[in-house]
Amino acid sequence: MTQRIPRLGVLGSGKGSNFRALAEAYRSGTLGCEPVIVLSDVESAGILNLAESFGVHAHFVAPGPFRTKMTPQSEAGLVQLLQEAQVDFIALAGFMRVIKEPLLQAFPGRILNIHPSLLPAFRGLEAWRQALESGVPETGCTVHLVDAGVDTGKILGQSRVPLLPGDTAESLHARIQVAEHELYPKMVREFAEHLRLSAE
Ligand code: GAR
Repeated sequence: MTQRIPRLGVLGSGKGSNFRALAEAYRSGTLGCEPVIVLSDVESAGILNLAESFGVHAHFVAPGPFRTKMTPQSEAGLVQLLQEAQVDFIALAGFMRVIKEPLLQAFPGRILNIHPSLLPAFRGLEAWRQALESGVPETGCTVHLVDAGVDTGKILGQSRVPLLPGDTAESLHARIQVAEHELYPKMVREFAEHLRLSAE
């Protein structure tokens, strides 16, 4: 990579509020990279419409028959779109399938994820509900590199969120998301900066 601004691909399965935070940071000139493509494994995911409203290319990629992962062929399709878009690195933003070899090999050490807990606590699904049910006094969110495990890669940054009396799963997740929208653009900017420095 030369000194051009790094190109970011975003993968998501849901409403896309973390993508919105990244896209708004880009618009305000504070993301340090350009979101150039959004891909989803869910055809009706809000993140696809949101991407288009920000002028970012958006595509649905059919995941195949498994619930927790894509087929190797589907994942290879993701890789092809990301490579055609000349993406330098990837941010998972609510992407709910486990990443496998095709994508890991195509972007080694270049896939970030945001997870709604203070990892290594509460890996996996609905981490905010796991935190609420376990009775911990605080939880939060983590940005980490993606490896072949589930929510196991190197931690890049975390934000803490206290549990409050009367919290429900929904109120707690909403508060974690506020923290996510602040943390993720910051971590993406740091990673983009690291890519630019290592390309010099
Ligand atoms: C976020 O809270 C994110 O941390 C979580 O999904 C939500 C997506 O929201 N991700 C995971 O649980 C991944 N294991 P969004 O679509 O509004 O960004």
